[in-house]
Amino acid sequence: MAIRSMSESMSESPLQGASASPFDLASRSTYEGWREWKLGVYPETVEQLIVPINHPHALDRSEKKALLERCKRANMALYQLATGSEPGKQLVRALGRQFGLERLDNNLRADEDSITALRVVPEAGKTHYIPYTNRPLNWHTDGYYNSPDEQVRAIVMHCVADAVAGGDNSYLDHEIAYLLMRDENPDYIRALMQPDAMTIPANVEDGAELRPVQSGPVFSVQPLTGTLHMRYTARTRSIVWKDDRNTRLAAGFLAELLASDSAYIFRHHMQAGQGVICNNVLHRREAFTDAPEPGQQRLLYRARYHDRIHGTELNNVWSGV
Ligand SMILES: [Fe+2]
Repeated sequence: MAIRSMSESMSESPLQGASASPFDLASRSTYEGWREWKLGVYPETVEQLIVPINHPHALDRSEKKALLERCKRANMALYQLATGSEPGKQLVRALGRQFGLERLDNNLRADEDSITALRVVPEAGKTHYIPYTNRPLNWHTDGYYNSPDEQVRAIVMHCVADAVAGGDNSYLDHEIAYLLMRDENPDYIRALMQPDAMTIPANVEDGAELRPVQSGPVFSVQPLTGTLHMRYTARTRSIVWKDDRNTRLAAGFLAELLASDSAYIFRHHMQAGQGVICNNVLHRREAFTDAPEPGQQRLLYRARYHDRIHGTELNNVWSGV
């Protein structure tokens, strides 16, 4: 950690010291040290995130190191199987396990094994479950409607077949979103760390409550790992922002950032045999067109975990802690 003068230390939070968090608004110098590191290591192109792998079920040392290194810098890595396309559920499970990802989130639409097949399901068009249509999916983090003890901290997604056209994904490390927002106005961060900043109304279908109302912060710090967690959706329906000025301004800033052509946002067309492992970074999907032949549709397998990628705890990624 950078050496601070006595007056600086005294003017800051009592949390300052060996355990200071860069995500504590009172720890300005710790934040600035982390910020400099983050901007210095953040990849410049999406290609820098892609790791070719030969052994997805049992990564060799260099493959694992290369994936982990990208996750440390950007909370995400993309992989490309040397074998090309490969059917996916076991691969997703095996890959996750090698990064300590064990506890699967059991969402409403997941298959029995809690790994979700993402493809166009004809009847989904009549509901509001956009993931199972070919419509665009706006910016979000997964599981933003989950309860606090079931937050989604990591995702593995594997592409078995890609679309004929469209379906590109975009990704933004949520730590970069935090950084840009804190640089703009720390009060925006303060607003989005409020425990009732973002509320998702209950999910009611045919009079039955499938999920209760869920309030929570957008940004929070995970006590065990010291890392930053984000709940977010750019949806404007089925979401209630806290009715205060800074929350409104912060949500507006974020929406503008995500709609911009910021160089920090990575865009990628996921091809068959490629996938992503990430600490639930911000992402979106564009609309796509499937092949007309049956059995040729875009298909991705997705696993959501309550665990975070092992090795990406704050004290393992940044030497300033
Ligand atoms: Fe998602």
